[in-house]
Amino acid sequence: MVATDGVTGAGRALVVTDLVKSFAGVTVLHSVNLGVRAGSVVGLIGENGAGKSTTSSIIAGIQQPDSGLMTIDGVAYAPASPADALASGVALIHQEIRTVPHLSIAENIFLGRLPRAGLRVDRDAMVEQAREVLRKLGIDIDPRRPVRGLSIAMQQSIEIAKAITRNPRYVIFDEPSASLTNQETDRVLHQISVLREHGAGIIYISHRLEEVRTISDEIVCMRDGNVVATWQSGDVPQRELVRAMVGRDFVFGHEAPAPASPEVVLEVHDLSRKGVFDGIDFTVAKGEILGIAGLVGAGRTEVVRAIAGVDKADGGAVTVEGRKIRLRNPGHALKAGIVMVPEDRKQQGLNLTLDSSRNIVSPWERILRVRGIVTKGWINRIAEDSRTAFDIRGSLDRPVVRLSGGNQQKVLLAKWLVRQPKVLILDEPTRGVDVGAKMSIYAIIRDYAARGVAVILVSSELEEVLGLAHRVLVMSGGRQIAVLPRDEATSETVMSLAVPQTIA
Ligand SMILES: Nc1ncnc2c1ncn2[C@@H]1O[C@H](COP(=O)(O)OP(=O)(O)OP(=O)(O)O)[C@@H](O)[C@H]1O
Ligand SMILES: [Mg+2]
Repeated sequence: MVATDGVTGAGRALVVTDLVKSFAGVTVLHSVNLGVRAGSVVGLIGENGAGKSTTSSIIAGIQQPDSGLMTIDGVAYAPASPADALASGVALIHQEIRTVPHLSIAENIFLGRLPRAGLRVDRDAMVEQAREVLRKLGIDIDPRRPVRGLSIAMQQSIEIAKAITRNPRYVIFDEPSASLTNQETDRVLHQISVLREHGAGIIYISHRLEEVRTISDEIVCMRDGNVVATWQSGDVPQRELVRAMVGRDFVFGHEAPAPASPEVVLEVHDLSRKGVFDGIDFTVAKGEILGIAGLVGAGRTEVVRAIAGVDKADGGAVTVEGRKIRLRNPGHALKAGIVMVPEDRKQQGLNLTLDSSRNIVSPWERILRVRGIVTKGWINRIAEDSRTAFDIRGSLDRPVVRLSGGNQQKVLLAKWLVRQPKVLILDEPTRGVDVGAKMSIYAIIRDYAARGVAVILVSSELEEVLGLAHRVLVMSGGRQIAVLPRDEATSETVMSLAVPQTIA
């Protein structure tokens, strides 16, 4: 099936040779060499900051290399812009979603090349074509709807639809699954195999090594701006991939957490929000990690947002250490000791134009300024401590937007964990981070629990919930289905409870 002679410039392939790129004097790509043949999938892996997204954006014409050569099917290729890349048949599905919220689904799909009838946009044709491609992708939604308010998973599918309508010959997927559940990921993987069967060459970037192994015909590993290993098959032991990524062995699997104290810290009683969730009723004890599992759309994020005062609940009560808290805004929750690390680092979590240090101290700055503690030295010390604790790679005094995706996630965590909360809510804390950083984040979560913090963990990675939590609350369709003790919470029991029961 797969030839073992590697990719050469001769066949039908996209080939990248000796790519070099630096930002402000820092070389982030030293010499990248890789190729993808038409009709095959190359899995691209590597630590946060290894240079995967930078390589992708050069191939897709978003950035220009300092030097290096690219060819498509043997012909020189040097795109000056994304439009240029598309004209040569190269499309990129971004790590960060870039849909335009106030435009409709159809408009987003055909952005920049709306079908025209004379001088006017042919809306009917556009909607029809959008409907057609969405159907092919197995998505049942009205393309005239605005994108605003759609789930991240749905927006991801729209990005894929957008790419597919351009009939690309080479497609790069930069962590399409970071915010998707297993089911949704399966759909994306299916869509990729359809593209491959149509003869497209695909570069698939992901931190989920399972997926990479399943879908890839070849795997390429980057580290510190170089390609450090290439395998001519997807069938590589996971350990070997991890070792190539981080340069050492990792032990997977979780040991059972230390037992929590019986002392209840957080009590959520009959919490509801009309049309979104109701009947949410649970407690979290001192030192306990409560996992919340469920499919996307089950209402997990909505519940924790209400507890943190971000969204208003319609009914029910939340108490911290026996004291009822007013849930009008996040300030009330913060004062009561509830801290939430939100799911969406771009929209809710980070100010991308500010530097990392300022982002990290921002929630505490106002409180502490009153006491006169905020000085440049204080900010730098806190930021430096966070860098060590969270293993943040990159410059802390540059805008966060310049950090790699996984490192942005670490800054987001650091920001909320500068001070010790009573209740810590984590919504998808390891989205887009590499295995090494994942392990450190797990250790940090356990450590907070061991110090008596009541932790709520929402994650689409079931393994993460099962590995860390003392108890697992399962949600489905906005309802609390069960709260399982650790030894009863297996992936089978949780999944069977999480799938909506459609039979009356
Ligand atoms: N515009 C920029 N200015 C300065 N540095 C940048 C810029 N874009 C990326 N970098 C740096 O280049 C390096 C590689 O980043 P890149 O985004 O390519 O990593 P990645 O492999 O995609 O990581 P992740 O898995 O976290 O997404 C990082 O150190 C990052 O901080
Ligand atoms: Mg990246």
